[in-house]
Amino acid sequence: MFASLPQLPADPILGLSAAFAQDTAADKVDLGVGVYKNDQGQTPILASVRAAEARRLAEETTKAYTAPGDYPGANSASQQLAFGAQHPTLRDQRLSTIQTPGGCGALRVAAELINRSQPGATVWVSLPTWGNHIPLLSGAGLQLREYPYYDAARHCIDFDRMMATLTQAEPGDLVLLHASCHNPSGADLSPEQWRSLTELAATGGFIPFIDMAYQGFGEGVEEDAFGLRLMAEQLPELVLATSYSKNFGLYRERAGSLSILSDQPSVAQAVTSQLLSITRGLYSMPPSHGAAIVDIIYHDPQLYAQWLEELTQMRERIQHLRRALVQRLNSIQSQRDFGFIQAERGMFSFLGLSVEQVQRLRHDWHIYMTDNSRINVAGLQKHSIEAVAQAIAQVL
Ligand code: LMR
Repeated sequence: MFASLPQLPADPILGLSAAFAQDTAADKVDLGVGVYKNDQGQTPILASVRAAEARRLAEETTKAYTAPGDYPGANSASQQLAFGAQHPTLRDQRLSTIQTPGGCGALRVAAELINRSQPGATVWVSLPTWGNHIPLLSGAGLQLREYPYYDAARHCIDFDRMMATLTQAEPGDLVLLHASCHNPSGADLSPEQWRSLTELAATGGFIPFIDMAYQGFGEGVEEDAFGLRLMAEQLPELVLATSYSKNFGLYRERAGSLSILSDQPSVAQAVTSQLLSITRGLYSMPPSHGAAIVDIIYHDPQLYAQWLEELTQMRERIQHLRRALVQRLNSIQSQRDFGFIQAERGMFSFLGLSVEQVQRLRHDWHIYMTDNSRINVAGLQKHSIEAVAQAIAQVL
């Protein structure tokens, strides 16, 4: 039966980690998969997460099934963290929220829900977008269309073309937006641009589908949710997928959430029942460990403050690395101004190199990044910046 299945190439992002692990060079540098690393090249468990885990282990009394969509407390933590505790949508009871296996789980369940409601619905995705958006959404039966987003020549968002294209979105189409820290470009919408998009959604009738995988990595927990909160306040419907992989460092625990904003509470109730039926047919219920940690941290003022502090440290370290890399790159070569890297937010930036240049960096200097020259800035270390800058100057 399975003999006809061809061997597939490794995933373009996750496959890099395997190739990096096999590289025996002592000076190798991993700028591939989007995982935060400290200056020792490690992805430590946050102290707030360790404390919450210890509490959970001490207090957990059973491994019996939990409620299918909710580890008790985690849904309120997810809603309040994303929308803000005082947001009108929470008061109006128009939100259906479930815990999901990571952000991927949230995206896929959302896609299944959309397809149940409107088979073959169109989702507009940014060009470029995170590579895994494509199989996650189209695998559920949705049709994907692209809108221009990142102008590689000017290293910024091509907002005029983006808006012009999205005027073609029909009522009921979805538009996938990155809440902050756009993956893969690092180029984020300004508050003004979020306002214009919100107006366009209100007049054109498209439904925002927001992927918030890096809340707190851009400008801050509140600031990174600006566009989401604005749209949720002004539009009748919205889809939100969140991930706790990055901001809580819970990558392997697969923690995330999905929230659907409906135009009235009775619809929200029906939506919740649909979500539970979809997840029952896919994986029954999500893992609870990561969700429990988020719940404990969010609801404990001391742990929450500690987590915010740790998140700030991660964000500031990345901003510092951006500045240091730009400074070295611009001082050792004069062909290109890399200042755009400093203006971007989150983990990623596009260097603007060809596939061939990326492969030379990999083979000759053991520097790993995805073929489209996306780098994970958080993978840099103080001591590797010089070597990375020199190697980039060489391939240019
Ligand atoms: C990335 O873009 O590198 C991360 O979101 C990890 C992944 O799953 O692709």
